[in-house]
Amino acid sequence: PKMKEFSGINKLETALKEKLGVEYIIIVPGDSDRHEWIKYEMGKACVHYLKNILLPDSIIAVTGGTTIAAIADAMVPIHEENNYVFVPARGGIGEEVEHQANTIAAKMAHKTNGKYRMLFIPDILSEQSYETMMKEPSIHEILQQIKGANIVLHGIGNALTMAKRRNTPTETMEQLEKGNAVSEAFGYYFDDKGQIVHKIYKIGIQLDDLRDKNHVIAVAGGSSKAKAIASYFKKGKSNMLITDEAAASQLLRDS
Ligand code: BG6
Repeated sequence: PKMKEFSGINKLETALKEKLGVEYIIIVPGDSDRHEWIKYEMGKACVHYLKNILLPDSIIAVTGGTTIAAIADAMVPIHEENNYVFVPARGGIGEEVEHQANTIAAKMAHKTNGKYRMLFIPDILSEQSYETMMKEPSIHEILQQIKGANIVLHGIGNALTMAKRRNTPTETMEQLEKGNAVSEAFGYYFDDKGQIVHKIYKIGIQLDDLRDKNHVIAVAGGSSKAKAIASYFKKGKSNMLITDEAAASQLLRDS
């Protein structure tokens, strides 16, 4: 039965890779909507993959969320001697502390004997405060590190779920609903064609910055995220997806 399961997952991986047009894919068995610990399984798969790509001086940028937090839980030392720097991909203190990018970066650094830098910036900024913050020298310095990250680990969320989690103002909520926003990643909201419906002004990695990165790894699972994953990958610049069987099967059923 093990072997059969393995070949089933292999087929799913091949089919999904083609459907999404993504370079690398890993599917773990299970459904993270039903069992929270499947996120930890995706985390373990991610850590295993990181072992192949992390160099002793890598800069790793991470987003927040429960899925990326599970990668931190699964993290283990990779190189005993290293200069890893873990940074939040974008500023954001809107999430619960355990699921904030800052916290996750610190935890990953702790577990791998690496270093971390933090950004203390509210999740949602007005355009005016954004411009002002960008001029702060200390913010400018960490921003350079973030932009220079070799590896990016990020979550993908359902647009409306994420908007509610962020206490999004009614006006923006309406804009998202009218624009049929399906997915959210890096503070960008996308429709089912991958077009940007709305973008939160945030300091840190912008969508265009992903283009010249070698390793942009999306981690998202659960059948409830199937449409969101499909939407993000319409235009998404990530070259790897780590997901679970439930999301993968649902994605292949939708079309
Ligand atoms: C947030 C990220 O912290 O986590 C979002 O800023 C992402 O971009 C979300 O969509 C995913 O959260 P979760 O808990 O579903 O992994």
